[in-house]
Amino acid sequence: MSKTYAELARAAQKAKTFAHAPYSKFRVGAALLTKNGKVFTGCNVENSSYSLTICAERTAIFKAISEGHHRFKAIAVSSDDSGFTPPCGACRQVLIDLAGNIDFIMVNAKQQMKVVPLKILLPFAFTSKNLRRSKKKK
Ligand code: THU
Repeated sequence: MSKTYAELARAAQKAKTFAHAPYSKFRVGAALLTKNGKVFTGCNVENSSYSLTICAERTAIFKAISEGHHRFKAIAVSSDDSGFTPPCGACRQVLIDLAGNIDFIMVNAKQQMKVVPLKILLPFAFTSKNLRRSKKKK
């Protein structure tokens, strides 16, 4: 049976407990649902060389891709914020390029959810289609 978004939100909340965020203290967990019902989780992993930090969303999708999964349905992201945490620009780009227009489910500290399609979060995105079109012209 396919996972519900509430179940995905719980998986993201659990993944948040593994966050390595000694610098920002901002814990984030993600749970990415594949089209065949598998869930890949991730958390943010910070580094003492700050810019090498990776967000929870990218941890999750890189885990999935590196295990051969390429078709996705939705990603839930949980933080300790009372509001909804939107994804950073880098994660918007990586997600739309590798997963397409999936549902992005923001989960706040009270476990409330807000669902926004990625195309709304990153309209007019640069993707592999642009590269393919440029190759065709030559
Ligand atoms: N962060 C995420 O993991 N995902 C988001 O959607 C927003 C930001 C992380 C990166 C960094 O470890 C911390 O939150 C503060 O920016």
